[in-house]
Amino acid sequence: MSEVVCPRRALLAGAGLTMLLAACGENPPPTAPSPSQNTGSGNGDGSLVKAADVPVGGGVVTADNVLVLQLTAGTFTAFSAVCPHQNFRLSPPDPQGLITCVAHQSHFKAADGSRVDGPAPSGLSPIAVQVVDGRVRRVG
Ligand code: FES
Repeated sequence: MSEVVCPRRALLAGAGLTMLLAACGENPPPTAPSPSQNTGSGNGDGSLVKAADVPVGGGVVTADNVLVLQLTAGTFTAFSAVCPHQNFRLSPPDPQGLITCVAHQSHFKAADGSRVDGPAPSGLSPIAVQVVDGRVRRVG
């Protein structure tokens, strides 16, 4: 005895599979935060941001994607603010010193840029900085 297949049911099953496959496809690339979430900007002389604009215990992301940190008063460090996973722009650390990539939840230590967990294959790239005339500048 052969099975009778309802053409309507087969069509609906096919449409459902197509919708399921579309829903399971690769996520679209994350969008970067709006420019209003950035502060500071490069100006060609390595200047990144006014030192006074970097909060103690936190940091800022400059327009050219540098995360400038002042975890302790008067000590400035910097990392690339581009996540090493899929290049999403990172935000400053939380009060516990953890940087979270909102795209896929990679976490990094603000203290040294090392990867804590998540899909990022590595930690953050350090950028050497110093304060000159009240501004945080790249070194080299
Ligand atoms: S872009 Fe995927 S974890 Fe940051």
